[in-house]
Amino acid sequence: MRLIHTITELRRALAGAGAAFVPTMGNLHAGHLALVEQAGRAGRPVVVSIFVNPLQFGPGEDFERYPRTLEADCALLEPLGVDYVFAPAVDELYPQPQRFRVEPPLADELCGAHRPGHFAGVCTVVLKLFNIVQPHVAVFGKKDYQQLYLIRAMVREFNLPIAILAGETVRAADGLALSSRNGYLTPEERAEAPRLYRTLLTLRERLAAGARDLATLEAEAAAALTAHGWQVDYVSVRSQATLLAPKPNERALVVLAAARLGATRLIDNVEVELSEPGL
Ligand code: PAF
Repeated sequence: MRLIHTITELRRALAGAGAAFVPTMGNLHAGHLALVEQAGRAGRPVVVSIFVNPLQFGPGEDFERYPRTLEADCALLEPLGVDYVFAPAVDELYPQPQRFRVEPPLADELCGAHRPGHFAGVCTVVLKLFNIVQPHVAVFGKKDYQQLYLIRAMVREFNLPIAILAGETVRAADGLALSSRNGYLTPEERAEAPRLYRTLLTLRERLAAGARDLATLEAEAAAALTAHGWQVDYVSVRSQATLLAPKPNERALVVLAAARLGATRLIDNVEVELSEPGL
């Protein structure tokens, strides 16, 4: 495994080999490692990028304190047969202020409504990384459902010759979706945190049982969290196809939520396939 810090060196090393690529911000956990293993099954050189992207953090967010653990990350990646870890400095990716941005759709929806500019920052850095790595395939986790949706849309609409694979969310034994931000939780908050997933599962069960008043289901789920000290950004039932409010008779849905426990913002989602007749 080679640790590479510059674009020139990475391009020289890859020499046009269409890699399987996993972009990350580091502080790797089992969720990331599952994405890397998925990339490995593509039978191509595997590239993992580790870059805490300033463009996708808003003022007052956790850019400064986001954990940077490059050595430990490399120790986790080496046994997985990763070929290249690309860990550029901020100046390497942004040698001058980034004036051009990818302005994605749905920027005012779901997490976009609560993190202005976040998805423009994500799509911009992912497009830059795609241009640098020129992968054949790239893997993103379903945990960041809106991000995955937007990356797929960007690849489609910009005709990028990259297959996007989705990795299932990896969870702790108590159901909490693995996330680097879980490390911010106090022991009490960590004990409370699995309620987010349980609340989504309850909403999904109610849909499966025939409940169809989405506004009430969403409000009750949000209230269940608020009652236990969460500050809820949203709980929302959306169409898997559009990430907008589902149309009548749509059956492939996803329930998404974002909420804060103390200073830590957690997100999660569950997909729902309704049996006939849909909504
Ligand atoms: O999901 C992440 O870790 C980041 O948003 C990504 C895709 C690496 C872009 O910085």
